[in-house]
Amino acid sequence: MIQLAIEAALEAGKFLKYNVGKVKNIERKQGEETNLVTEIDKQSEALIISKIKKHFPHHDILGEESGSLNSRSEFKWIIDPLDGTTNFTHGFPIFSVTIGIEHKGEIIAGVIYDPNADELFSAEKGNGAYLNKKRIHVSSTDSLIKSLLVTGFPYNVKENPQHVVEHFVNFLPLAQGVRRLGSAALDLAYIACGRLDGYWEVFLNPWDKAAGILLVREAGGKVTNFQNDEHDVIYNPNTLASNGRIHEYMLDVLRKIK
Ligand code: IPD
Ligand code: CA
Ligand code: CA
Repeated sequence: MIQLAIEAALEAGKFLKYNVGKVKNIERKQGEETNLVTEIDKQSEALIISKIKKHFPHHDILGEESGSLNSRSEFKWIIDPLDGTTNFTHGFPIFSVTIGIEHKGEIIAGVIYDPNADELFSAEKGNGAYLNKKRIHVSSTDSLIKSLLVTGFPYNVKENPQHVVEHFVNFLPLAQGVRRLGSAALDLAYIACGRLDGYWEVFLNPWDKAAGILLVREAGGKVTNFQNDEHDVIYNPNTLASNGRIHEYMLDVLRKIK
């Protein structure tokens, strides 16, 4: 299964890279002015799903663009065929393909591919996390002021859901820096390989993080919701990921907002 996920992510990623600057049709999702979807998102997802169906026709699938295909299988493939659509439409080279495989509610494998950097992140439960086949680990940074943090904003940021703006303002003076890359999957992959130390986001979807959660954990990090609960993080919109050492400090900051 992981081999198929890797093949699908590589193929879809190359397809995305080839299509930078060639988008013909940009639609707005759910009437939200900034929530974009292009024909390339949809074609990338179709490409991945056709590969899965060929080899595992009875598995469940949850894809961002085509929704849920439920065959009551124990296995579910969770797909974001283009994570970072806004960047993609601007030709800003930070976007990825991400595929997670869930078995009886638990993520057992995950792949994130960045076609611009040609970086393939992969993890299997119990077998560690890898970047281009080399083992990766989270950072050992142990204070917020030495930490490079990353976050993301939901498309309805104007409504300031879950006090997203206040969280950002609270973290800014406490960290060495706060980044906003525009691809949640890469945010998590970068925590896993130690480039970033901590990540938080409200309103994340399962397809943004299924693979990333496993990567961070297999690289020695921690992923929870804002109540420090490690269970069911995938279906809880609030997500906190870190190298583990700064997790409590980040929770303290998030707890400032009741
Ligand atoms: C988005 C990106 C972004 C995050 C948003 C996601 P999309 O995914 O991951 O970094 O902040 O919450 O929706 O729409 O580009 O697939
Ligand atoms: Ca996404
Ligand atoms: Ca997407």
